[in-house]
Amino acid sequence: MIVNPAERTGKVQEYYFSKKLAQIDRMRREGADIINLGIGSPDQPPSEKTISALSAEAKKATSHGYQSYTGIALLRKAFADWYNKYFHVELNPENEILLLMGSKEGIMHISMAFINPGDEVLVPDPGYPTYSSVTNLVGGIVRKYDLVKEKGWFPDLEELENSDLSKVKMMWVNYPHMPTGTRGSLLLFEKLVAFAGKHNILLINDNPYSFIQNKEYHSILEIDGAKKVALELNSLSKSHNMAGWRIGMVAGHKDYLTEVLKVKSNMDSGMFLAMQMAAIEALGNPESWYDEVNTAYSKRRRIVEEIMNILGADYDKSQVGLFLWGRIPDSIVSCEDYVENILNKTHVFITPGFIFGENGQRYIRISLCATEEKLKEAKKRLEKFNI
Ligand SMILES: Cc1ncc(COP(=O)(O)O)c(C=O)c1O
Repeated sequence: MIVNPAERTGKVQEYYFSKKLAQIDRMRREGADIINLGIGSPDQPPSEKTISALSAEAKKATSHGYQSYTGIALLRKAFADWYNKYFHVELNPENEILLLMGSKEGIMHISMAFINPGDEVLVPDPGYPTYSSVTNLVGGIVRKYDLVKEKGWFPDLEELENSDLSKVKMMWVNYPHMPTGTRGSLLLFEKLVAFAGKHNILLINDNPYSFIQNKEYHSILEIDGAKKVALELNSLSKSHNMAGWRIGMVAGHKDYLTEVLKVKSNMDSGMFLAMQMAAIEALGNPESWYDEVNTAYSKRRRIVEEIMNILGADYDKSQVGLFLWGRIPDSIVSCEDYVENILNKTHVFITPGFIFGENGQRYIRISLCATEEKLKEAKKRLEKFNI
């Protein structure tokens, strides 16, 4: 390379899964039958009417132009209705909802809109790695806050208050939490909103997992006064089996969204109309649709629990979301080597918890995004591995 990259690329690494999927691809090309229980990419399809709407709209000659930067009004209204029905949150579709290409891009847009170099950002450990990498990319300073089993995987706000918070500008939370599968609660959200208000911190709840193995839907925006300090990200990736479509949204006070839009409208030129029309259908799925999807997940979950038992891993049965998170036995020295060894010997890939932070060092995460048949096969291979 004769041209040096920007300094910011030195602050981040290629995403763990980007490297891992390339390795898995290579192994597959060499003939290995890999069972990938790493990533949370739903393998069940979206509802039929979602797909029909996509193809009907795509057939129209008028569907192919640039679209509005905020998302079409009908889709913003569908998101508002969905939030009202399930989260009991009132959102004005005109200006309190902004369509995103998946919630992941929202993490970048929000950070670009609010973080100056040197600003501190509170990031959960363990947590979704993108919060830290994006903070680094925009020149912010990552301040990890601990989530530990002994404290129910909830932030210790008192401990945080005993530290210097004067430079903290933003805080990421994500309940239901990935990777630990911990549910949020109104009490937790109340405390977080009060904490953010007291210290002038922009609080963002990243909320893509509410509908998976969970019926207690909560949004940070349910809390009185939340719109003053909080935004919420949501997405159709997990809730509607549409991870590849890249459809998400950010909700909150119009003044915050105006700032986010200043960044976003300079980056993309709206979302394909057929996808937006299909998303409206998806958001209108009957509750029975979510139930069916979850019935499949609960059957898979039982097999994944058996896999955890075979590996001697300790897990909390009350977890929600798309994964199971388990603590590996103390006798295993390095979790990273352990997972690599499993991949090489059994061709089953599971995620080592260290990629989510220090507090994930002794944990593994297994995805439910594989058929029962595949999971049973993985279980068989791991049984042999353990002997
Ligand atoms: C906590 C969390 N936030 C955001 C995302 C990204 O979701 P999306 O597909 O909406 O970009 C993921 C995906 O794995 C996630 O686990």
